[in-house]
Parts: sequence; structure tokens; C-alpha cells
Amino acid sequence: MIKKHWITSLLLAVTAFPMMAQNLEQQIDNLLKQMTLEEKVRLSYAQAKFCSPGVPRLGVPELWTSDGPHGVRMEINWNDWGHAHWTNDAITAFPALTCLAATWNPELATIYGKSIGEEARYRKKNVLLGPGVNLYRTPLNGRNFEYMGEDPNLASAMVVNYIQALQSNGVSCCVKHYALNEQEEFRGHVNVIVSDRALRELYLRPFEAAVKQGKAWSLMGSYNQYLDQHASHNEVLLKKILKEEWGFDGAVISDWGATHNTDEAALYGLDLEMGTYTNGLTSEGHGFGYDDYYLGTAYLEKIKKGEIPMEVVNDKARRMLRLILRTSLPRFTQNPMDNFGSLNTDEHVLACRTVAQEGIVLLKNDVSAAAGKALLPIDFSQYKRILVVGDNATRRLTEGGGSSELKAKDEVSPLRTLQERYGKQAQITYAQGYTCGGAYFGRIDQIKQQTIDSLRNDAVAKAKEADLVIFIGGLNKNHFQDCEGGDRRFYNLDFEQDELISALADANKNLVTVIVSGNAYAMPWLAKVPNLVQSWYLGSQAGPALIDILSGDVCPSGKTPFTFARELEDYPAHKLGRVGYPGLDPDSLPAAFQFGDKTNPKSALLLQKGFFEKQAAAIAKDNNINKRNTSIDGRTHHGRGNEAEVYAEDILLGYRWFDAKAQNGTYAQSKSRVVFPFGFGLSYTTFAYGKPTISGNTVSVTVRNTGKVAGKEVVQFYVGDDKASVVRPVKELKHFEKVSLQPGEEKTVSYQIADDDLKFFDENTQQWTLEPGSFTIYVAASSADVKGKVKYVR
Ligand code: BGC
Repeated sequence: MIKKHWITSLLLAVTAFPMMAQNLEQQIDNLLKQMTLEEKVRLSYAQAKFCSPGVPRLGVPELWTSDGPHGVRMEINWNDWGHAHWTNDAITAFPALTCLAATWNPELATIYGKSIGEEARYRKKNVLLGPGVNLYRTPLNGRNFEYMGEDPNLASAMVVNYIQALQSNGVSCCVKHYALNEQEEFRGHVNVIVSDRALRELYLRPFEAAVKQGKAWSLMGSYNQYLDQHASHNEVLLKKILKEEWGFDGAVISDWGATHNTDEAALYGLDLEMGTYTNGLTSEGHGFGYDDYYLGTAYLEKIKKGEIPMEVVNDKARRMLRLILRTSLPRFTQNPMDNFGSLNTDEHVLACRTVAQEGIVLLKNDVSAAAGKALLPIDFSQYKRILVVGDNATRRLTEGGGSSELKAKDEVSPLRTLQERYGKQAQITYAQGYTCGGAYFGRIDQIKQQTIDSLRNDAVAKAKEADLVIFIGGLNKNHFQDCEGGDRRFYNLDFEQDELISALADANKNLVTVIVSGNAYAMPWLAKVPNLVQSWYLGSQAGPALIDILSGDVCPSGKTPFTFARELEDYPAHKLGRVGYPGLDPDSLPAAFQFGDKTNPKSALLLQKGFFEKQAAAIAKDNNINKRNTSIDGRTHHGRGNEAEVYAEDILLGYRWFDAKAQNGTYAQSKSRVVFPFGFGLSYTTFAYGKPTISGNTVSVTVRNTGKVAGKEVVQFYVGDDKASVVRPVKELKHFEKVSLQPGEEKTVSYQIADDDLKFFDENTQQWTLEPGSFTIYVAASSADVKGKVKYVR
């Protein structure tokens, strides 16, 4: 039997594969020759919520897409957003992408992409709508959990492996949301004003890597605007940069309902229009159907009138055929069964658990004076009465959150895992502690104060009686938490968790604090809690993975993919009131931010000394500008529809900003506004770094495990330009490596400096430029923990 399969697959590989690889374009040419104009046009717009047509007459199949980045979404109705309630669409829910980024382990991105691709293939999807690589600009962004942090190089390293592995299954990625969609508030229209340097050096970088190195087959245009034009049909972003400059040969898919104009959609690079509001039945209901899409009849008529050149039509049809063929043809691998994918295998569950284990970040673990050691890892043999507090100990966190919602075959909660593992040796009780209502899209439950108080009082009373308290709280997938379609309303944890955590810390010294979130949050209780574990949305294996870490079965090795600042206003996006976030009527922009027709500021202006601080001071005095206009009535605020915002921190996003402020002394009095820096994470063991050396363009450093247990360390290499003609960040992450070390073991980690790592984007020449001179290479355990430096002259 095995032999027969092997022979069949070998034959297929020998005969069919070369034909497919070489002849894809020829096949497309043949198809295009046989197709009518109507058939070509029909490829470019939806026929259902998640499906677009092929060419039935010629046997070209339909294209099926599915959300989302963390698992294959349950089936949605053909023609509305309701769940279809199929009984065969439960899947493995993988950890959210913030968790993947926090592993700092690109090999896990490969395993993730391969596993999710197999599930998508089994579910007969051509395109998986992800991964998302918008950057972390504000901790209020409701969708940060779907993205990979604040650093473009970390996100790039992850996204490339994810895509390559996903697409090796014959399933296309759809990298999203291109571009500048760093918030949910006003997402449908906000006009982002950003310098070319910040655009190129930060926000476009992961997309560029996805296209050039990942070889992405499709990409999603976002909802917002850039240069007064919607991103899903944006001349600069799609036509000039993506297609002409980067040579993208895949298809651009609009975000659902992000198309607004036939001419722009036709001419500026959109290939497939999805989700424009419709009931799908051409003449019934609201009288708006699929043919009424911007790329439907209106497009066809314009072509017939000669207003749209045929080369544009053929190019779109070619890209759509390419996407369909790339994802529909058998893959002719050694094992023909691979063509069909697989669902919920043991390997997928293991992949989920491993990514979750490696992504969890140990933020704090103080040695208790009484015990003479830290509480973590928990020695479960020591505690007879264990109290678990918190909604996230039991909540299904794969549900809600918007389009990334999942129907997990089995989602194992932390409480269930604790009961299964330690329920016989200890008495494990649970107190909810706080409640948050249901996970609805676009609205929230109002929680009564009485309920909040009684849940807290109950938990605190029980905590006084327990030997050990494990609090598992944080954000969740409700609207206004970590959820699409709205941003968080404030930086603090909601549902009075700050008061609860504080009270628990007072009630019991043996408190373990676990926060689940896809975002940073205020920690007014930090000094009171002996430890803090940052968990993410961990998917199907949330419980086992978390308890693996708490128990010490696995040594924590995750590192933060973004900066945890003390207060919301410490993030530069929030220092300028509504100018920086979430945007305001462009006429109300202060004069300093009126950039003329093209709303295209130069970095040189934004980064000039004192400019930002001066504007922030002026804005702080101006009530009109500074007034937040986010509604707190439980509904998303849609604004007036013309809001613009300025990414005025420019190239100084995340740690780049905090580095710059530390260097110029702005933060001198306040010691530091950073609670946990980018790239930070503790371990149950300790590591010693040697002195870095450089030979040619290779920097090397030794790392030794000096503790008692095996562990993994992420060695980070940052590059800074010692002297440049433009303002440059103090340092930027360019390389990292996660090394696994037994106690006492030492390894050497190396980084080969590439010329591209030294360049900046020159706005005058519109070129990536290397200015020769001296550079500093920082070897670091986090962006704020530099272990050694070397000079490199180029
Ligand atoms: C989201 C996309 C998603 C699409 C389809 C949109 O609202 O922004 O990320 O893929 O819906 O569900």
C-alpha cells in the first residue's frame, strides 16, 4: 500500500509538476484568449460573502476565501454575516499573531503557517485572509492582537516564514491590511498623513518582505485613506509601489466594503472587490446586488465606452486567474494525500501548544523575602487550597473579536487544565472576580456596579482563605477590548480589574498574576504583585500551554513584541491629542500640520528639534483639539467621515521613540516612562553574554546558560548610524536569534551585517541610501538591555 502511494506520487511529481510550473502563464494566456469581456470582468467581484466566481464555461473554479490569521473561520452564510452552523467546520485555533511575534522564533512561524495551511486546504479554501502586519502604534487599537508588534523587522521575519509555509499547501495568504490601518476608530475613512520615510522604513516594510521574500499571492487593501484616496484603490500604494516597484504578481483583494469608486478601483490596482454592502439579490431587498459592485456593471460599461484600457482589464483577469490556478491545481507532492490538507491533527494541536508556550512572556518574578525564592515556577506540592480568580480562566477567548473569531474543536481553559493536573492533590476553587458581558460585534453589555462589587468581594474573601491565588484576567474579545470594529476606550484594564488585583494582592501574598491581552495596559498595581505573566490569546491549547509555564514544565522564553509604557500619553501617538489619534476634521488641524494639497509631510519637518514637543504643548492648551471624541455609549463612533490624522512621531515608533527621548534627556526627571521595553522577557534560568567581537561584517557573541534549568534566550542585534545627514533612530533591530541552552551550555551567535541594514529611505531621491561611515552594533537582551557594542565601518 505504502509502496503504491509512493510510486503514484513519484510519477505525478515527474510528469505533472514541470508542466504546471512552466506553463502557468501559458495556461492563463490560453484561457484569456477564450474568455469574453463579461467573463473577464466577472472575475473581479464577489458572488457571496466569501466567494468570487471562476469561469464556469471553461471549468475555471470559484475562489473561496476565509478568515483569518489564527485559524480557519467557521462557515459564514452565503449572503449575510450569520454563522452557517455547519457541523464539520470546527478547527484548531492557533495563538493570535502577537503571541507568534512574542516567540521571536521564525521556525515557529513556519510550523504555524504549515499547520494552518493544511487546515485551510482541508476546508477547501483558496485564500486565508491573513496574516496581518500593521504596526503597533497605539495600545488602544482593537486589532493589535491580530498583528505582530511595533518593529517592522520582527514582523517581517515572522511573516515571510508564515507565508512561505502556508502557500506550500497551495493556499494563498492575503497579507493585510495594506496599508496604514493602525487603528479601528474611523477605520473606514481616516486619512493618514505620514512622511515617506516613516511609510517606507516602518509601515510598508513587513508588506515589502511579504511580497519580495514571502512571494505572497494576494494582499488586502485596507479601509482607511492615504493621500486622500482609499487604500483599496490607491494609486501610490497599489499601482506605483506594490505593483510597479515591488513587482507584485498576485491579486489585490479589497477589504470587505473598502471599495468606493469604479475609476479608481479599475485604474489603481484593485483586482477583486469583496464585501461592498449588498443583499446579493440584484433586484430584491435594498435593490443592490453583486452586479452593482464598483467593479461590476459600472466597470463593464466603462470598458465598453473605451474609458478603461483593455490592458487594465486583461491584467486584472490575469492576476485573478493566476490566484485561482495557483490555489486550485493539485500540488503533485511526494504524498498525493497532501493535496487535501488535514484538520485537527495531533501535530496541529502540538504546534498550537508550542507556539503558545514560547510566546508567553514572564514580565516580573520577584524573590519573596519570606520564602527566599520566587513564587514562579509554582511548586504545586506546596499548596492544598488553590483559588483561581478571573474571567479569562474559563472564558472561550477564540470567540468574538470580529472577523478572526473561531470555532475551536476543543478550547482547553486554564481552569480545566489546573483541575485535570492538580485537582486530585489540591482543592481547586474558582471565583470569577469580575464580569464583562457577552462578545458582541459593535456593542457591549452594561455591567451593574452591584455585580462588580459582589464578584470582587467574593473573590477577595476566598483569597484570604487560600494557600495560593492565581489571577487570570486582562482583556478579551468583546467590543472595546481586543476586538475589530472599535478601539479600547482607555489604557487601564476594564471591569474594575485594577481594584480587584490590588485587593487580591492585599489579601494574599501568594498571588500569581496572569494577564491575557493583545495589547499593553496600565499597571497601577505592579508594585504590589510579586510576579506578572503576559499571556496572549493562545487558542485551543490555552490552558495546557499556560500551566506548562506556570508549573515550570516549560521555561518561559517569550519576549515582548511592543513597548509597555507607563501611561497612554507616553506613546507619541497620544501626545498630540486627536491630531495623532484618532484624527479630526482636517480644517481643525493646527497650522503646523497643514501640509498642503498632497498632505505629504517631510520627515525633516516632523523630526526637527523640539517640533513635536512644541506642538504637544500648544495642543495641550487647546481644548478643541484635545477633546477626545470617542463615544462611550457602547457603540463605535464613526466620526464625520472626513477625519485626518498625522503620524507625527514619524520614524520614531515604539522603542525608537523612547530611545530618542532617553538620549535627549526629555524623560530625565521621570526616570523612565517604559515599564517593560520592547524585546524584554524573563526566564527561570539566567544567561551571561560574552563580549561581542567583529570580524569583517560578522558580529559574534557567546551566550551561556548560568542557571539550573534548560532555557532559551533571544539574542538581539540592533544597528545605529553614528553620523548621518538625516535624523535616524538611536538603534533599530536588524537581526535576532533564539538559542536553546542546557544549564552550563554556551553557544556563539552571529550576525552578518548586510548593506541593506544600514540604509535609510532618502525622501529627496526616493531611494534607499547608504551613507558610508561608522555604525554601532548593539548586542542586547532587550531594546533597553544592551550587553555589548562593536563598531562597524562601511
Ligand atoms: C476585516 C478583514 C476581514 C474581512 C472579512 C473585514 O471587516 O477588516 O480583516 O478579512 O472583514 O471578514
